[in-house]
Amino acid sequence: MRNCPSASSRHDGSWGSQLLILGHHYQQDEVIAHADLRGDSYQLSQMAADSTECRNIIFCGVHFMAETADILANRPEKLQQRQGVRVQVILPDMSAGCSMADMAAIRQVEDAWDQLGEIVDTAEMIPVTYINSAASLKAFCGRHGGIVCTSSNAAAVLDWALERGRRVFFFPDQHLGRNTALKMGITNEQMPVWDPYADELGGNTEEAIERSKVVLWKGHCSVHQMFRPEHVHQFRQRIPGIKILVHPECPQEVNDLADISGSTSKIIRTVEQAPPGTKWAIGTELHLVNRLKKEHPEQEIHFLSPVVCMCATMYRIDLPHLAWAIENLTAGEVVNEIRVDEETAHYSLVALERMLEVR
Ligand code: 13P
Ligand code: SF4
Repeated sequence: MRNCPSASSRHDGSWGSQLLILGHHYQQDEVIAHADLRGDSYQLSQMAADSTECRNIIFCGVHFMAETADILANRPEKLQQRQGVRVQVILPDMSAGCSMADMAAIRQVEDAWDQLGEIVDTAEMIPVTYINSAASLKAFCGRHGGIVCTSSNAAAVLDWALERGRRVFFFPDQHLGRNTALKMGITNEQMPVWDPYADELGGNTEEAIERSKVVLWKGHCSVHQMFRPEHVHQFRQRIPGIKILVHPECPQEVNDLADISGSTSKIIRTVEQAPPGTKWAIGTELHLVNRLKKEHPEQEIHFLSPVVCMCATMYRIDLPHLAWAIENLTAGEVVNEIRVDEETAHYSLVALERMLEVR
């Protein structure tokens, strides 16, 4: 029963609490309809961390999320509680990756760290990785006194890091790092951008590294970088009184013009709590904005960009792949299991546990 995905079977509930289907808010509706729980990256990691009875997680999200679920659901105390029985984490389509996560490879980060160490004391530099990164980068942070952040707790994590070190090395999303640090009073002059493809020092001078407070990795989300300042201007002109609500993965020029910038859960909360008749132009993934439109007909919701900005890799998780994963599980076969090796999981957990403690 391995082969081809078909849409013939559904999660009929017969698995009870043994199977948890997690769905990220950016998933398409027909997949979300089958999710036991939906959330943003932070909430989903907490759900995986808290799961007690579940033995299998089907993760309708992307690869780094499934890795995080594997690490948290199978951390030592959980394994002990289950007498060594692992939670099997399944990603219905292995090609559901994240282009941002792919912009920082562990070798590039290690190389950058070594080069930075020639200019400043890396014992006083705290590495912070966005949760949207490979487990190897989370492990790097765990090994070097660093931490993981999500878009919901990025400011608190930067505070945490700057209480422990003179500067931060933030990867892979330059925009989340910059937008968060700017709000904390750190200036762009104190935030050089490290280009892993530049010949030396990530394309920076020694002076720029010496005066840095936050060194930003040159990575971005291909979805959120599509939102432009002219989209904001056009909406403000067309619809007086409209409020612009964006994700901090959008570029600084867009964040600066927005009324509100916040994580996926903050965007949802903001819309839920707004009075009827509020007008919004929202700059985040298309499926979420369309769902908000459907769930809040009492408000006027627009998608901020005139072009389609959807996460193409999340979209690879479709009903046929989900059904295929469930059918195989029912037949006793685990397909597309995501399993992080023991050493990487150990050090990643160090950085993830710090993240879960910082709120
Ligand atoms: P959050 O779910 O943390 O808001 O991140 C958005 C995102 O890009 C997920 O890949
Ligand atoms: Fe990666 Fe952006 Fe897709 Fe999130 S929305 S998974 S950051 S490409």
